[in-house]
Amino acid sequence: MNTTENALLKVKDLEVVYRARRETVRAVNGISFSLNRGETLGLVGETGAGKTTTAYSMMRVLPDRTARIIKGSIEFEGKNLLEVPENTMRHAIRGEKIALIFQDPMSALNPIMKVGEQIAEALKFHNKGELTAEQIEAQVDHTLELVGIQKERKFDFPHQLSGGMKQRVVIAIALVCEPVLIIADEPTTALDVTIQAQVLAMIDELREKLGTAMILITHDLGIVAQMCDNVAIMYAGEIIEMGSVEDIYSGKNQHPYTTGLFGSLPDLDKKTDRLHPIDGLMPDPTELPPGCKFHPRCPRVMDICKRVQPDFTFDGTHKVACHLYGGAGKEERS
Ligand SMILES: Nc1ncnc2c1ncn2[C@@H]1O[C@H](COP(=O)(O)OP(=O)(O)OP(=O)(O)O)[C@@H](O)[C@H]1O
Ligand SMILES: [Mg+2]
Repeated sequence: MNTTENALLKVKDLEVVYRARRETVRAVNGISFSLNRGETLGLVGETGAGKTTTAYSMMRVLPDRTARIIKGSIEFEGKNLLEVPENTMRHAIRGEKIALIFQDPMSALNPIMKVGEQIAEALKFHNKGELTAEQIEAQVDHTLELVGIQKERKFDFPHQLSGGMKQRVVIAIALVCEPVLIIADEPTTALDVTIQAQVLAMIDELREKLGTAMILITHDLGIVAQMCDNVAIMYAGEIIEMGSVEDIYSGKNQHPYTTGLFGSLPDLDKKTDRLHPIDGLMPDPTELPPGCKFHPRCPRVMDICKRVQPDFTFDGTHKVACHLYGGAGKEERS
């Protein structure tokens, strides 16, 4: 979003494919963005947009058999993570510097280990034996308190905790090593609405206290407005609009896809209880259309959109890839 030279994270032209059977799934198609220390970026888009693939690329946890990063770089603290040896990723980056919070807490917890021990494991791994048993114990208690769980619950196994408590433990494990970047992939989707709000407020508070940067992946534009500094809207593996929360929510020069997403929000004044999803479906990622990927669904489609992929048009911190606002691009035919 910014052009600061010392951004914490700079993703450039990232392209990721999955080879499934004989097909190539084009999941991420040349995205670029950057993030400063302490900032929060919301990554928003419908199901299948490539959000999780982007997150997994940054952590280098894509499935090795099928996924390939075919282009681009992910510069973190000045180093290209795509060139860092796996050993360094494991010991110095993953968990230590960058923590990932998954959507489903159970996939991140060990069902047969007490939750306190799981937090202790993360601490031991990252402190390489420098802490005494008492120090670890104290830190586990403190961390549980930070995420709003009584320290006595450290003797519980995950199945003895509620969904919200489990996700709090996952967050405790993510935060215990004081990472500089948290990637939260729909961290509260599995929780009910009231618990969702509590967990999000807690993440935000801890993040602020520790000065952690965050990439928050979500379908929920309300959550983005509340928690993020900047927003990137993803469609079919591309970022089609990006800017500060104010840029995106002002509605000025908005991408028709973003307008569609906003139209999908329930309108609190109109008492409708149904969402209005955008007509049509995201294109098949094995056969992406030429031109703008959104053109088959776009209510404002023009002839040029079917042939030419739009470049970004800039207006201060706001950028949008749409022919309505200029955005010349390269000719493409299927
Ligand atoms: N292991 C895989 N093998 C083949 N294709 C995959 C694999 N994982 C994801 N994909 C495909 O890559 C595209 C992007 O998926 P991704 O999980 O990144 O989307 P997402 O934006 O996170 O969606 P959601 O909001 O549903 O979580 C989709 O078309 C998906 O079907
Ligand atoms: Mg996902």
